Amino acid sequence: MILYGRPVGRAYFDRLKARRDRLPRAPRLVIISDGHPDSEYYRHSLLKLARKMEVEIVSSVEEGDGVVQLGEPQIQDLPPEKDIEGISEYHIGRIAYDDALYVPPTPMAAILLLEYYREEIGCDLSGADAVIVGRSVRVGRPLTLMLLNRDSTVSVLHRKTKNVIEYTQRADVVFLSAGIGEYFGREYFTPESVVVDISTVHKDGKWVGDARFDELKDYVKAITPVPGGVGKITPLVLFDNLFKAVEIKYGLYKGGKVKVP
Ligand SMILES: NC(=O)c1ccc[n+]([C@@H]2O[C@H](COP(=O)([O-])OP(=O)(O)OC[C@H]3O[C@@H](n4cnc5c(N)ncnc54)[C@H](OP(=O)(O)O)[C@@H]3O)[C@@H](O)[C@H]2O)c1
Repeated sequence: MILYGRPVGRAYFDRLKARRDRLPRAPRLVIISDGHPDSEYYRHSLLKLARKMEVEIVSSVEEGDGVVQLGEPQIQDLPPEKDIEGISEYHIGRIAYDDALYVPPTPMAAILLLEYYREEIGCDLSGADAVIVGRSVRVGRPLTLMLLNRDSTVSVLHRKTKNVIEYTQRADVVFLSAGIGEYFGREYFTPESVVVDISTVHKDGKWVGDARFDELKDYVKAITPVPGGVGKITPLVLFDNLFKAVEIKYGLYKGGKVKVP
């Protein structure tokens, strides 16, 4: 089964738009890009979503309600209340205590997607053996904590991991975030595997994930496509955090977790 992000994103968009319309003013977003083509591609998708959501784009951190840094971080000491990517020590710490405020968009998008299709694919994160390939601060590390908070048993793999195949073959669900492009083929999985491909790699003029999608789509139990999977949901989680930032400023935030749309 192919786990498309579009239906998840559509339902999430509608819910977020209703929330946006209840805000007292337009949220202000700062986008800082390192100018890399991958960052620019993501910047354009954020600008498109900002137009649809009536979010104002501003240039100074002081003016903004939330800041997103694409590619290499340019600002190191962003105040936690503006770190809508949720990757500062403050936010990662809160996730470690299972009391997240701003959830990192990419890992949250991966989890929302799986939760959306949970019944169809029979994959419950609670009690699942989960494997994450990649341990970055943006993706692998927060995803580890977020899965632990959902009672998964988590193995985190990286370049020094021995016998990667032994881990991926045994797992109920494998999250790929190595950024190495069409690397993982059949030998890494079984027909029972659920594969969530988080990576987006520009290769030979097109975007691909870490999985060899064509080889796997009729072999594993379920797999997300790239593009069209996790990436359809990620910007929405970022805007969810941005709206939360405004709600907090105006005393409108009532708590609560990001829910499956
Ligand atoms: N879908 C979305 O919405 C979205 C959003 C953000 C990012 N992304 C994509 O997600 C991918 C990962 O991003 P990132 O920022 O986490 O990348 P990153 O900082 O480069 O981290 C890559 C991680 O993968 C590990 N790794 C690399 N090659 C490996 C291999 N052969 N075997 C095992 N582990 C390996 C690295 O191990 P070491 O730690 O040992 O070096 C590292 O921990 C990129 O393709 C990025 O474009 C997607």
